Amino acid sequence: MSAPNQIAVIGLGYVGLPLSLSFADNGYDVIGLDIDDTRIEKLQQGTSYIDDVSDSYLSEQTKNGLSFTTDYADIADVDGVLICVPTPLDKTLSPDVSYVTATSESLAEVLSTDVTVVLESTVYPGATEEIVVNTFEDRGFNVGNDVFIGYSPERIDPGNNDYTIEEIPKVVGGVTEECGVRVEALYSPVFDDLVPVDSSAEAEFVKLLENTFRTVNIALVNELATVASTLDIDIWGAIEAASTKPFGYMPFYPGPGLGGHCLPIDPLYLSWKAKEQGLDIEFIELANNVNRQMPEHVVSRVVNLLNNHGSAVPDTNVLIIGASYKADVADVRESPAFDVIGLLSERGANVQYTDPHVPNLTVDGCEYESIEIQKDSVDQFDVGIILTGHDSFDIDQILNTVDILFDTRNITQDLESDKIYRL
Ligand SMILES: NC(=O)c1ccc[n+]([C@@H]2O[C@H](COP(=O)([O-])OP(=O)(O)OC[C@H]3O[C@@H](n4cnc5c(N)ncnc54)[C@H](O)[C@@H]3O)[C@@H](O)[C@H]2O)c1
Repeated sequence: MSAPNQIAVIGLGYVGLPLSLSFADNGYDVIGLDIDDTRIEKLQQGTSYIDDVSDSYLSEQTKNGLSFTTDYADIADVDGVLICVPTPLDKTLSPDVSYVTATSESLAEVLSTDVTVVLESTVYPGATEEIVVNTFEDRGFNVGNDVFIGYSPERIDPGNNDYTIEEIPKVVGGVTEECGVRVEALYSPVFDDLVPVDSSAEAEFVKLLENTFRTVNIALVNELATVASTLDIDIWGAIEAASTKPFGYMPFYPGPGLGGHCLPIDPLYLSWKAKEQGLDIEFIELANNVNRQMPEHVVSRVVNLLNNHGSAVPDTNVLIIGASYKADVADVRESPAFDVIGLLSERGANVQYTDPHVPNLTVDGCEYESIEIQKDSVDQFDVGIILTGHDSFDIDQILNTVDILFDTRNITQDLESDKIYRL
């Protein structure tokens, strides 16, 4: 089975843009498509809006044949398509698959036959068949004969430079056996290791299994962190010591709460599907509740610290250090910073934040601008709260500007100062 030559990547965000570059870098003729005009204009001008993608790599791949469009008609003749559009939750915390549906409809309208279409967006088990397959069949395609449909979970980890996209094993599953063969042919020139599974639904389940595992373990350690702090035990030291066990233990770390487009969302796709099947599962909801309570826990720890130092929250000057949901990225989706800032403001604190990756932030309708920590500024803030451990933070400088530093990420682990308190 020969691999397709020209592919389209639909949705050029944190997942789709790096993926399109990677396919271009590995010899494919790639058309990147997004409905966001501003994004496409930027890319056509050689400007990346994703931290992990440099302008120079972008222009290198443009020379290799990578092009960008907002028009589905431009991808009519491709022989492979990767769908990387958002899959958020709606207001009732149920899956919102409207972007996948809209994309499938646009694709089924323009694509010709003998094309391989792979969904990479995170979805509930069965969604590829329910949405993508049904849409193509409604348009007269014969799946497994003239269109080959599958699912491959995206495992990219923004901000993590330890692995290239190609080095992360790629799980792939086809809707039919022939679809599976075609999907493997599409990915094999790019990825070092393919992990074929029996069906698209199994591949969808793999992604939810991975992220549910992570979410539940983070919730467990978050809960244990609240117990440890009450017992005056250093959770970070305990985790480090437990990690010396060579088997049967894997470290997870507490924090101010989950963020991003994956962990706070993906497990709820699985619990939604389970409920739809009449199953009463509890782990995911419990983990979700524990993780969502962490911003409140952070604020109550800070309130206690201030009280112990003879002050109270109203009119206190608070510096939030890091607003994005994880280190060294600009993504603020679902960031716990929103809740922490909101809760402190509600209690009357004067809150400011610093984050070199996030110039502006709107919390509960209030606009905030990231401030720069000046070298010569001393004790401007009653308390600083580290929510994100960006590499670029100069902690010594930050220590000069705060009376108390509350570190939810343990990035101060090597520093000795009586100003420092940890989650
Ligand atoms: N961000 C991550 O770290 C990560 C990791 C693994 C998996 N995922 C999954 O990958 C998917 C994409 O996530 P993301 O973070 O890249 O999202 P994103 O919001 O960064 O990018 C999605 C892009 O899709 C575009 N889009 C929306 N509707 C479209 C349409 N009909 N046609 C063409 N383009 C359209 C948007 O304009 C946007 O640019 C989600 O399902 C997510 O759960 C994300």
